[in-house]
Amino acid sequence: MSKRCLSVLAFLLLLCCSLSIFAQTKSTDAGGHQWWQHAVFYEIYPRSFADSNNDGIGDLKGITSKMGYLHDLGVDAIWISPCFPSPQVDFGYDVSDYENIDPMYGTLADFDHMVAEGKQQGVRIVLDFVVNHSSDKHPWFIDSKSSRTASHRDWYIWRDGKGPGQPPNNWMSTFGGSAWKFDPATKQYYYHYFYAEQPDLNWRNPAVEKAMLDTTGWWYKRGVSGFRLDAVDTLFEDPNLTDNPVLPGTNKQGDPNTDEIHNKKLPEVHEVLKKLRKVADESDAVLIGETWTSNIDELKEYYGSHDNELQMPMDFMFTTVDKLSPPEFRRQIAQVDSAGGWPVFVISNHDKVRSYNRYGDGKNNDAIAKLMGAFYLTLRGTPIMYYGEEIGMENNDPKRKEDVKDPIGRTGWPREIGRDGERTPMQWNSDTNAGFSQKDPWLPVPLTYKTHNVATELKDPNSVRQCHVVSPQLQGESRTGGIEHVGLAPEGNLQPRRQRLCLRQSEDLGGDAAVIRKRPRSDAGTVRSHHRGSDEVIDF
Ligand code: GLC
Ligand code: CA
Repeated sequence: MSKRCLSVLAFLLLLCCSLSIFAQTKSTDAGGHQWWQHAVFYEIYPRSFADSNNDGIGDLKGITSKMGYLHDLGVDAIWISPCFPSPQVDFGYDVSDYENIDPMYGTLADFDHMVAEGKQQGVRIVLDFVVNHSSDKHPWFIDSKSSRTASHRDWYIWRDGKGPGQPPNNWMSTFGGSAWKFDPATKQYYYHYFYAEQPDLNWRNPAVEKAMLDTTGWWYKRGVSGFRLDAVDTLFEDPNLTDNPVLPGTNKQGDPNTDEIHNKKLPEVHEVLKKLRKVADESDAVLIGETWTSNIDELKEYYGSHDNELQMPMDFMFTTVDKLSPPEFRRQIAQVDSAGGWPVFVISNHDKVRSYNRYGDGKNNDAIAKLMGAFYLTLRGTPIMYYGEEIGMENNDPKRKEDVKDPIGRTGWPREIGRDGERTPMQWNSDTNAGFSQKDPWLPVPLTYKTHNVATELKDPNSVRQCHVVSPQLQGESRTGGIEHVGLAPEGNLQPRRQRLCLRQSEDLGGDAAVIRKRPRSDAGTVRSHHRGSDEVIDF
C-alpha cells in the first residue's frame, strides 16, 4: 500500500474514532453523566392519562396536551406503556403491529406531533417494547399457526405434546394454567408465558432477532429516545423443555408453585441485550429493563459485563421494601450501589398496588407520600415516577368480580383481583371524572379525586404534588451523589442545625422523619427546594 494510501487510511481512522467519541459523549454533562442519568422519568399508562376525544380512553393527543404539565413537574422523559395496534387482551401488551399506533390512541402523525411537542418542552419519549411475545393476532403468528410448514412457523415455539391431551412439559403461565396451548389444526402446542393470546416469540430464530432489532431502529429514526423492555427475564427457554421443580403450595391462580429455572433468566438473554444496546447506542438512546431480579448478582448481570447491556435495569427489589423501614431501605440502596451500575428507583407501576397504599398507614398517607417522593427523587440514580404518584393517587380496586377488566383478576378472583386498581384515570381536577374525560372512563376514578387532583394541589403549597418537584439544583446534587440520605428518624441522625435539608417533620408520622443532608463539600447556598416555607421541607 502506498504511503499516500496509508495516510488517507490513518486520517479516516482518526476521523471515525473522533466521530464515534463525539457520538458517545455528545449528551454527557461536565461530570460525564449521560442524559438519562440526570433525568426524571415518568411512566404513562396511555389509556388512563388524558382523553382528548372523550371516548373514555386516553390517547396520544391527550398526552401531547399535557406536555407543559410534565415539563413543570420536572419530567425529562416519559415512558409510554404500549400504544401499538393491539386486541387489548392485556391492554396493549399484546402487540399486533410493532410499527404503528393503535387507532384508539391516534395515528403515527399524532405520534410525530407528540415527539415534536415533547422536544419543545424538553420531554423525551420512551416506548415500551414487548420483546418476549406478540399478540396471537399479529400477522407473524397468524401465518405461524396456519401450517407446520408456514414461513413463520419457527418464529414461535411449537412442540408436540407428551401424549394425547398432555402438554410438552410442566411449565405454567404466570397468568394461570399451563403455558402451552394446543392448536387442533396443526396438532401441536405453542408456548405462552403470559396469556394464550400472547405467544412467545422464538428468539433462537435469527429472523425474529433481526425483525425486532430493526423495529427499534425504525422508532429511533422517528425520534424515540429509548425503550422500556418488557419482560426480559422470559426471552429464552431451555430447548430441551426440562420440567421445572414443583414447590409446595399453590399461587393466586390456584396453580401449583414451581421454581421457574428452565424458562426464565437464561444466559442467552444477555447476547440479545448486547445487540439491542448496539442499536440503541447509535441513537444515544436508553434501554430500561423490566428486570424482576431476586438478588444483586442478577441485577449486576443486566448492566452487562462491560456496561454493554441495559443502562437502566429497574431495581424492583427496592419495591419489596413495602414499609417505611429505614434500615431496610438503607440496606437495599447500599446493595444497589454495590452493583456498580447506575441505580434505577421505582416505587409504583401499572402492575403494582400504588405506593400511596403500600406505604401509607391509613392515617398519614399524604405525609408518607410526600416523604417517599422527596426521598427517592433525591437518591443517587434515576427515578421513574408513575403517573398520579405525584398527587397521591390511590388504588381504586374493583369490589365485585363482574367489574374487573384485567383478565387475571377474573380468573383469580378473589385471591387475585387484577391490576385495574392502579390503572385508573389521572386526576386533573375536581370536575366530573376528575377532568380526564367527559365520558365515563374505562375504569372508575377513586372518590378521593375531589381532594387529590392536579388543579387543587397546585394551589396548595403543602400538597403531595408540591413535594414532587425537586429543583434542578437539588436533582443535580443527587445525581452526583451530593445528597446523603442520613436516615429516617427515629433511627436517623436528627440534629437539625447540622442538616442542610430535612424532609418531613415528625408529628403526624408518630416520630418518623426523613432527613436529607448535603455533603459538606457542597456549597450550601446552591441548594434550594421548591417546597420551602412548608413544614414538609426545611432548608437550614
Ligand atoms: C409485563 C407488563 C405487564 C404485562 C406483562 C406481559 O410484566 O408490565 O403489564 O401484563 O409484561 O406483557
Ligand atoms: Ca380517547
